[in-house]
Amino acid sequence: MISKTYLILFLYSFSINLVYSNTPDWSSSSELPGNEICEWHNEHYVCYRDGNRANIYDLGPEALDQTLTEGAKHSLYYPVTVTNLMIPNESVNRFFNEEDASPLRKFIFKIAKKISKFRSMDEIFTWLGLHKYPKHPDPKTPNKIPYMGHDIQKQRMGVTTNSIHGTRSTTFSCAACHSSDLFGTKVLGMTNRFPKANEFFHLGQSMISKVPSAAFKLLFNPSDEDLYIFKRAKHALKYVEVRPPLELGLDTSLAQVGLSLSKRSEDEYASLNPWRAKFPRRNRLRNVPADSKPAVWWNLKYKTRWLSDGSIVSGNPIHTNFLWNEIGRGVDLRQLEGWLVRNTDTIEELTAFVFSTKAPKYQKFFPNQINIAKAKRGQKLFLKNCSGCHGKYEKAWENPEGLSYSEQLETTKVWYHKKTPVIDVGTDPYRAEGMRYFYKDLNRLKISETIGTIVKPQKGYVPPPLVGVWARLPYFHNNSVPTLFDVITPDFKRPKSYIAVPAHSKERDFDVVKNGYPAPKKIRSPYKEDKEYHFNATRPGTSNQGHTKMLLTDDGREKFNYKEKLELIEFLKTL
Ligand code: HEC
Ligand code: HEC
Repeated sequence: MISKTYLILFLYSFSINLVYSNTPDWSSSSELPGNEICEWHNEHYVCYRDGNRANIYDLGPEALDQTLTEGAKHSLYYPVTVTNLMIPNESVNRFFNEEDASPLRKFIFKIAKKISKFRSMDEIFTWLGLHKYPKHPDPKTPNKIPYMGHDIQKQRMGVTTNSIHGTRSTTFSCAACHSSDLFGTKVLGMTNRFPKANEFFHLGQSMISKVPSAAFKLLFNPSDEDLYIFKRAKHALKYVEVRPPLELGLDTSLAQVGLSLSKRSEDEYASLNPWRAKFPRRNRLRNVPADSKPAVWWNLKYKTRWLSDGSIVSGNPIHTNFLWNEIGRGVDLRQLEGWLVRNTDTIEELTAFVFSTKAPKYQKFFPNQINIAKAKRGQKLFLKNCSGCHGKYEKAWENPEGLSYSEQLETTKVWYHKKTPVIDVGTDPYRAEGMRYFYKDLNRLKISETIGTIVKPQKGYVPPPLVGVWARLPYFHNNSVPTLFDVITPDFKRPKSYIAVPAHSKERDFDVVKNGYPAPKKIRSPYKEDKEYHFNATRPGTSNQGHTKMLLTDDGREKFNYKEKLELIEFLKTL
């Protein structure tokens, strides 16, 4: 008897060791690993570390490789099976195959005019800003995109079609907002510059909420399974509230989470209460913006707190993302909690992948364009004026013996803050303030306790690590600045508007001098004429103010002349 207990205890402790020996520190006191240097910057004592968490579970080479492949798959194909908001494929396809004059088409167009321009699901996905899977392995892409099988690869990155309930239904994965097409190269972990996920929810809501289940049955003649998917989505959408983004390229998930919570009960499971859905609690997010762009993933390994404002101070950010994505899709939080607890492998694989992602390299897209002497002058300016907030980047050119040109451009070490800071440099405050209006609703949830998430509203934003910054345009958390040149030019001289353009052509869609979007008069058609791509950087929430004091001398003149700005940009391009 005793020996059996010991055996069980032994096995138990063994399995705990196996699973938890490499548990990352997700607490609010976590620090970056590595050597430390501390120095004074503008009366602030700053401590950096040279380590990072690219291999967050300390896996050996083989296990790492396997884990990252699985993780990349989860980012492309949404793994949460308790998700309630799915599109019933069969019925939607039937709809698209109908004659133009059919009563079904007429009815749907009447309630959702927007979709009358679409002829297929794929056209909707194109409009949503989703990219095609790469046909061949692409040496320019920094993060391997695994082969997902023929059926999935036929669709776009971010589309997830399940056949869980005996029928096929569709939803979106992380890649819908976190993958990009950079001059023809698909990059997983990079901001989708033109996502329309929020608008898609809006469209779905205006259609589904207006169609009674009985009408759906009559018009679509669905299978029982399709009808079930429809009813479930209809139910979930009662607990979802969506805001349209201020500008194309911005995302309103934050408001969607806050407002959706205001439609649920105030208990620790934010229970689904039809009365509350009809009479939601008051919330400022209905009236003030809190838009931001989807972040790049390759910075996570250097950070110890999450989101553009660093307001998530503890917990695995992947957990938090599932929670947010699912509150925005009307999930039952008891079910989600169960799913998270049962699917630790999936979560760890996705976590490992997201932390491992790397940035695309300028040298691969614009070979041999960097002038190293000029970049070195930029590095000096950077160390003096920018490092105190953005960290230090050691370059191979500091010890160039025996190195080729390409090798000299490599970054050999990133020194970033031991603990990620939040600094108010006067950039648009709305996104950071938005957190104040619903953080209590989040912290109160039982599931937040289970996954260890704590949200603390902040004043200001994280000065992000600048790895891969050349590709991160437009700049700042709210996309308000079109080029690196303008980021290092004081706000009163920045353009008040710009025109965005998808990165198809390196020659026409990118200004290599200023590093960013070309000047408005150089934007090609149809984007130049299309108002949707015009960004107004003067409104509350989209303002391009701030990040200026460090660009001025004590007597208020510009610190950097034209030549020095180009040197700084030359250096930034190599990160
Ligand atoms: C509808 C678009 C959308 C989807 C889908 C989405 N995200 Fe995000 N994500 C965002 C936005 C927007 C932000 C930045 C919000 C902010 O910080 O202001 C973000 C931020 C993040 C961050 C924080 C980055 C940092 O630097 O702190 C992580 C990690 C992340 N997302 C992971 C995921 C994962 C994993 C999924 C899938 C489960 C996912 N996201 C799905 C829009 C999305
Ligand atoms: C006092 C701290 C501080 C200093 C000094 C500073 N920055 Fe920043 N920087 C920030 C913060 C905070 C942000 C984020 C602002 C936002 O998103 O609203 C930022 C954003 C940026 C961005 C945009 C990143 C992105 O992904 O959109 C770039 C580029 C940048 N800084 C470059 C520089 C350069 C170059 C210098 C030196 C000339 C510099 N910064 C000096 C704090 C600082």
